[in-house]
Amino acid sequence: MKKISTGIKGLDWMLGGGIPQGYLVSVIGSCGTGKTTLGLHFIYEGLKNGEKCLIISFDEDEKGILETAEGYGMDFASHSDNLVVVRLDAEEVKRKVEGFEDHLKRIFESLRPSRVLIDPLTILETLFDEAGRYSFLSKMRSIIKEIGATAIITGESSMDKPSSSKFGIMEYVSDGMIVLKTYRENELDEAILSIEIIKMRRIPHQRKPRPFTISSNGIEVFEESELM
Ligand SMILES: Nc1ncnc2c1ncn2[C@@H]1O[C@H](COP(=O)(O)OP(=O)(O)O)[C@@H](O)[C@H]1O
Ligand SMILES: [Mg+2]
Repeated sequence: MKKISTGIKGLDWMLGGGIPQGYLVSVIGSCGTGKTTLGLHFIYEGLKNGEKCLIISFDEDEKGILETAEGYGMDFASHSDNLVVVRLDAEEVKRKVEGFEDHLKRIFESLRPSRVLIDPLTILETLFDEAGRYSFLSKMRSIIKEIGATAIITGESSMDKPSSSKFGIMEYVSDGMIVLKTYRENELDEAILSIEIIKMRRIPHQRKPRPFTISSNGIEVFEESELM
């Protein structure tokens, strides 16, 4: 099975080399845990390899995303030929969902990206009911699978179960789940961030959560350390 680098050394180690090619992996966590940052590392790694990459954002627009990436020293600008950023308005997508699925399909088929980041899916999920959410997510999964891209989709975690996605649906359409959390022993302490692989189909992987930091270089996973 071919593994592709996430662009984060310690995370690649936890995955035994990287994400299996063609997988759809959910990254979930609460606000500010580094979901977007992880996604940007994954995309930047692809850009550096000369791969075509697609970012579908329900949050920031292209300018904001590029600025965030530049803030981590990722030079997205010089790879603009291989990068397409689509900013979608969740309300609008919901209003014309069928037309939107065709629109999405066309974007995927014309670009044929090898890496895809969808960030964050929760905004869209919020607008659908249970059946609608499942149907939308599985359609999106088939579109991604059809072109054989490797994808990261990010989502908020559930308030009472931080290892589950907010609506519990992302789990069903994903081949893998990575969970980001913050820990605080004392309310006045600085929060410690942790990363854990909950699931990765058909491959052995590390199961212990590992600490990580976000700095001006982006995410660094301390693979040698364990959380106390
Ligand atoms: N250039 C930077 N240097 C250091 N830390 C940063 C930088 N940019 C963002 N961060 C940290 O990353 C956090 C946001 O991470 P992000 O990936 O956007 O989280 P999420 O998408 O899960 O909400 C910020 O709250 C900040 O702590
Ligand atoms: Mg984010």
